[in-house]
Amino acid sequence: MTDPTITHRRAPAKSPPGGDGARYVKIFDTTLRDGEQAPGASMNQTEKLEIAQQLARLGVDIIEAGFPIASKGDFESVALIARVVKGSRIAGLARAIEQDVRVCWDAVRGAEAPRIHTFISTSPIHMKYQIKKTPDQVRAITREMVGLAARLAAQHPAADVEFSAMDASRSEPEFLAEILGIAIECGATTINVPDTVGYALPLEWRDFICEQYRLCPALSDVTVSVHCHNDLGLASANSLAAVSAGASQIECAVNGIGERAGNASLEEVVMALATRGAYFGATTGIVTEEIARSSRMVSNLTGYVVQPNKAIVGRNAFAHESGIHQAGLLAESSTFEIMKPADVGFTDSDLVLGKHSGRHALRTRLEELGYRLTDVELDEAFHRFKDLADKKKDVTALDLEALVGEEIRERQDSFTLLAYVSQAGSAITPTAQVEVEVRGRRRRGKSFSDGTVEAVFKAIDHAVGMKGSLADYQVRSVTAGKDALAEVKLAVEIDGRPYRGQAVSFDVMESSAKAYVRALNNAAAAKGND
Ligand code: KIV
Ligand code: ZN
Repeated sequence: MTDPTITHRRAPAKSPPGGDGARYVKIFDTTLRDGEQAPGASMNQTEKLEIAQQLARLGVDIIEAGFPIASKGDFESVALIARVVKGSRIAGLARAIEQDVRVCWDAVRGAEAPRIHTFISTSPIHMKYQIKKTPDQVRAITREMVGLAARLAAQHPAADVEFSAMDASRSEPEFLAEILGIAIECGATTINVPDTVGYALPLEWRDFICEQYRLCPALSDVTVSVHCHNDLGLASANSLAAVSAGASQIECAVNGIGERAGNASLEEVVMALATRGAYFGATTGIVTEEIARSSRMVSNLTGYVVQPNKAIVGRNAFAHESGIHQAGLLAESSTFEIMKPADVGFTDSDLVLGKHSGRHALRTRLEELGYRLTDVELDEAFHRFKDLADKKKDVTALDLEALVGEEIRERQDSFTLLAYVSQAGSAITPTAQVEVEVRGRRRRGKSFSDGTVEAVFKAIDHAVGMKGSLADYQVRSVTAGKDALAEVKLAVEIDGRPYRGQAVSFDVMESSAKAYVRALNNAAAAKGND
């Protein structure tokens, strides 16, 4: 039985700047790496940069921007984010293989504060079947590759090295502690203990981390991190249990996206620490008011819908249905609310512009939302905004975000929907014709089908010369009211792989067509990157 108390170690993390002595827990966001490994969640370079910039605004300490060795596209996205995004440390992932580590360094070295994050498996089952290495080989590789990463990082005044022991939760504690000790000796300053397969249970995991501190005293001199998967729905609980054991970095993803059931949700762990900071004696540097927007952006760009009852960011997270609750809330909001919607960025006062608003007002409002546009981009945004304001009385922050986000994404696309015509009715077979710009050339497509939406999708397939089959399709309104924009999120399967798309428009059919084209763009980008 291990000792569940934490008295055997020193506080491993610094207090926040100007803080009250509470431990500072770093937030390591892996939306762009583990999150992107969620089936069909792939994003293009512009989308990744847009998310990275939002993560920096959100105040995450470390952005894991990708896995540079995985493809040319991954390398370029990581290098671009490293060059452009300021304020957060930029990490790249690398297997404990020389070429991975070197390529990773080349991708991140342009950052203000770069990180090489290298990993190797340490559990008996992974060593035997996945990496086919003996424990002795794992010892030697850890020594060599962390040493190499540390020598590369030494070329930059602010670079550092993180080491992860993959499948740590199913590793022999003594062997794991020995490997972590080697990594520290060779220069890693952050040691990550992943629950790769989501097997851990909160109390057991807390004990496990405590035991690692006991078996490897050098852990008290570095940042101990956890990376928990959600296979049993316990990723956030396990991450917080590790904080109770002394961990001072949590690896997580916005909306909890990631491999299989995903990673710990950034919004859940951050708001648990914000709401129950006194219990944990810990705090984070996250600007919580940016959470809702980060969640919408990740959902839109990956096409992953947020379930309505999702904690913190779900549509119903702050909706009170029962009369008893509503009466209590009116009397005193803390009767049934442990956080306020505004704390995570849900505001009522989002009426921003109307049809008489000018270019200057639009630029100012977009800047408040975090979008800095060039004059040409502003012209295009203004044109779209006027179109929207003609049809919709009140243009809200949500509407602007939806339109500008779409414009930014279209810049890198292989295919752009130029026009469509759809004919349908109870007594005729639905038919559709479309015009699509395919890598700079105008192409037409036509088709018919039993369903109106399917006829449009088949016409698009005809125009672009690809064939997708619809695996998921959802429609919702962006705001309330009959004049609201319609948002479509869908998944399309191409050659056995899912690709997601999202779009907004006044018309459900147009949103559907644009979302479908977006999914085809994602497929084309993924093929280009492979
Ligand atoms: O789940 C895992 O173990 C990982 C590592 C690469 C950190 O994603
Ligand atoms: Zn993972």
